[in-house]
Amino acid sequence: MKGVILAGGLGTRLYPLTKVTNKHLLPVYDRPMIFYPLDTLVKAGIKDIMVVTGGTSSGDFLRLLENGRDFGLEHLTYAYQEGEKGIAHALSLAEHFAANEKIVVILGDNIIEKDISEEVRIFEKQEKGARILLKKVDTPERFGVAEMKEGRIVRIIEKPVIPPSRFAVTGIYMYDSQVFDFIRALKPSSRGELEITDVNNRYIERGEMTYGILDGWWTDAGTFDSLLRANILVAKQRASK
Ligand code: DAU
Repeated sequence: MKGVILAGGLGTRLYPLTKVTNKHLLPVYDRPMIFYPLDTLVKAGIKDIMVVTGGTSSGDFLRLLENGRDFGLEHLTYAYQEGEKGIAHALSLAEHFAANEKIVVILGDNIIEKDISEEVRIFEKQEKGARILLKKVDTPERFGVAEMKEGRIVRIIEKPVIPPSRFAVTGIYMYDSQVFDFIRALKPSSRGELEITDVNNRYIERGEMTYGILDGWWTDAGTFDSLLRANILVAKQRASK
């Protein structure tokens, strides 16, 4: 399977750290943030990856990651997203790269403790549709949240004021090629973005969404507090090895 890392956006919540660089190039303990999602995909056996980036520092990704060989990749390609038009918009730029195959998508600011190999294997066997990974969190209102009924996801609500559960949708998504048709049909949300949550809800409506619960800790790193948390979690993990 191929992998896509979404590392566009303007990182406005981390301003001024992101005034002269891209959020995904900032340090998380001893490595640039982008290394973590890249490693997650590599550990799951994915060797053909596209990085979608944007902004004025996009050339730095090429300088940092080069052709990906040092990470064990066979192919590393790049796409450029203009502006901050949403996660689903960033993903739409990978349509040609995906070439009708199934893909594993990870947000560039998502850092996890364990590996997702087993989940990827499960999705490989899934005939069609999508698979997402959920994680129980204390602050679901910060994320997309799954509303569950009898063990099934009935819908996902993006940053709900009153969360229907504590299950956050992590930034790891597995899709079949229908995803690009669903993105084409999207309308921008009230914040002017093409929302990945709308794409996921489309799969849910069609009864084609499965899910797993992510093992180990998970954090994003898009705010000062979560960036600090990511640094601490990674530092502790290194110290325990
Ligand atoms: O981290 C998981 C959460 O990520 C999910 O629970 C939410 O459902 C999902 O919408 C997303 O929420 P955030 O508010 O954290 O998304 P954010 O705008 O911070 O973007 C996350 C990553 O997506 C960012 O690090 C890079 C990529 N991205 C984002 C935008 C808006 C792009 O590549 N292009 C974009 O235009």
